[in-house]
Amino acid sequence: MRSKIVAGNWKMNTTFQEAEDLLYEIADLMNERGKGDTTVIICPPSPFLEMASDIGVENDFFVGAQNVNDHESGAYTGEVSAAMIGSMGITHVILGHSERRTYFGETDTIIKSKVALALKHELVPIYCCGEVLAEREKSNHFEVVRNQVNEALFSLTKEDFSKIIIAYEPVWAIGTGVTATPAQAQEMHAFIRGLVADKYGETVAAETVILYGGSCNAKNAAELFSQPDVDGGLIGGASLKAEDFVTILNSFKK
Ligand code: PGA
Repeated sequence: MRSKIVAGNWKMNTTFQEAEDLLYEIADLMNERGKGDTTVIICPPSPFLEMASDIGVENDFFVGAQNVNDHESGAYTGEVSAAMIGSMGITHVILGHSERRTYFGETDTIIKSKVALALKHELVPIYCCGEVLAEREKSNHFEVVRNQVNEALFSLTKEDFSKIIIAYEPVWAIGTGVTATPAQAQEMHAFIRGLVADKYGETVAAETVILYGGSCNAKNAAELFSQPDVDGGLIGGASLKAEDFVTILNSFKK
């Protein structure tokens, strides 16, 4: 269902104590200032999911994982499965993040398996897509995003696709301090919604949540979120600062 969503991607940051402190800081600020009708999802590192989920239940935020393995189970030392995460009361999982594509060689085929396993174990995938700078400079960005979405998501049934959250994250904006302009974000979000409409119909497209990610912060969130096809944000760096994160999740027009 289309709703306003702000998700925090903590990446490989925080110790247990730091994570717990940050979660309580965010919870306290949200309780103090409110969060309107924004759905909040926090994605801490895997070892802290259970602790985060307990705090989330009491403070009205969801908790997501940052990754799952693309196999159901078995001899994959060190890996974490969708079945494990799903059995812990965790509700979401970030898949296809550009850091996973770049540093861990994840292809759309691998990500497609992860999406299927996440759905099987009742996790909502937050599927990330986005072009690198060279692709935008060659005006290939629409084609790149079309292929990513097509290959990883468009073999899903309409029912399964309806559960997916999409995050458009231009790689050149992630962690760089360079944000897409509201117009650039809107243009790509409208393009993605159009792809969904062509594949699954206007009703599904109108209900699909499309988040923006890439140097979204407390200063630029309001303008980005005011775009008609931007339904919220996937926040990296700024989600590690309680004050900034709570400002961002309150950046929707009333
Ligand atoms: P950033 O990261 O907000 O630090 O740019 C976003 C992300 O990687 O999801």
